[in-house]
Amino acid sequence: MTDLIVKGQDIIDRILTLELVRVTERAAIASARLRGRGDEKAADQAAVDAMRRELHRLPIDGTVVIGEGERDEAPMLFIGEKLGTGGSAVDIAVDPLEGTTLCAHDMPGSIAVMAMATGGALLHAPDVYMEKIAVGPGYPQGVVDLDKSIEENVAALAKAKGVSSKEISVLLLDRPRHKPILEACREIGCPVRLIPDGDVAGVIFTTRPNETGIDLYVGIGGAPEGVLAAGALRCVGGQMQGRLILDTDEKIARAAQMGVKDPKRKYDLTELAAGDVIVSLTGVTDGALVSGVKFDEDAIRTETLIYRSTTGTVRRIATEHRQKARGRA
Ligand code: FBP
Repeated sequence: MTDLIVKGQDIIDRILTLELVRVTERAAIASARLRGRGDEKAADQAAVDAMRRELHRLPIDGTVVIGEGERDEAPMLFIGEKLGTGGSAVDIAVDPLEGTTLCAHDMPGSIAVMAMATGGALLHAPDVYMEKIAVGPGYPQGVVDLDKSIEENVAALAKAKGVSSKEISVLLLDRPRHKPILEACREIGCPVRLIPDGDVAGVIFTTRPNETGIDLYVGIGGAPEGVLAAGALRCVGGQMQGRLILDTDEKIARAAQMGVKDPKRKYDLTELAAGDVIVSLTGVTDGALVSGVKFDEDAIRTETLIYRSTTGTVRRIATEHRQKARGRA
């Protein structure tokens, strides 16, 4: 009996995998129509509307755990919102348009991304900042640590990789708060890629160092983005740690309401995203992971990466949407 249930759930999982591709594709197409218009809010809203519409069609009993904000500040995809037509209880984490500024200014790297996991498996993170560190698969457990200095982490990673510290490439969000890390990297002599936005992809870059040229992600970004990126790392290996930055009583109280008991806790990968996870991301603008949406005469073309932790499978799906090219929403 148990076997049958497990097999049944697995089949649902596998079917859902493709359904999630549709969800992020629709969000990506909707926001891509507003690329380069300088209107971040409109592009984000278009992605939110499309993603929500698609999620409501799925045979799930879904609860948004990472969304557009708390109920009083977000009318759609708010934390706690129920989605789907009924079925397995799942947690849903969404960032319908990750890199709103990138999309509004038609710059590389914006994506539509979401994760789905068994109920209770994703960290219920409030929309605060998170300290993060991540490396790809193949390194000894604990090779880098949030509590170590950048010098120590780069040296440990270099040793594990069998190269000099000068050959470890580091990715940082280009923010004044990262000046000390940047200066330390300059001192070490290792190359640093500064990205204007989009650290979900930034973390995932570490899982494909040969393609992306990135070994180490480090720094402070959004906590919701941290959980989404952790979901992808859960599927392909790699290591990540995150610690919420809860620097006011109000943030501590908000986090406590979401189940965070220790405000200073350092979460590892399996605590950020546990259980079975599926992550789907579709390019909005061109980027190192996926191409952006192409509006061609005959079809709209999208590219999606879909990760599934149960098997560790990553699929790269190129889709041609013909009805949409003829104007159907
Ligand atoms: P948005 O899509 O919400 O604009 O987020 C973009 C982003 O760059 C994330 O990738 C990153 O985690 C976060 O913003 C960093 O926050 P901030 O811009 O406040 O430094």
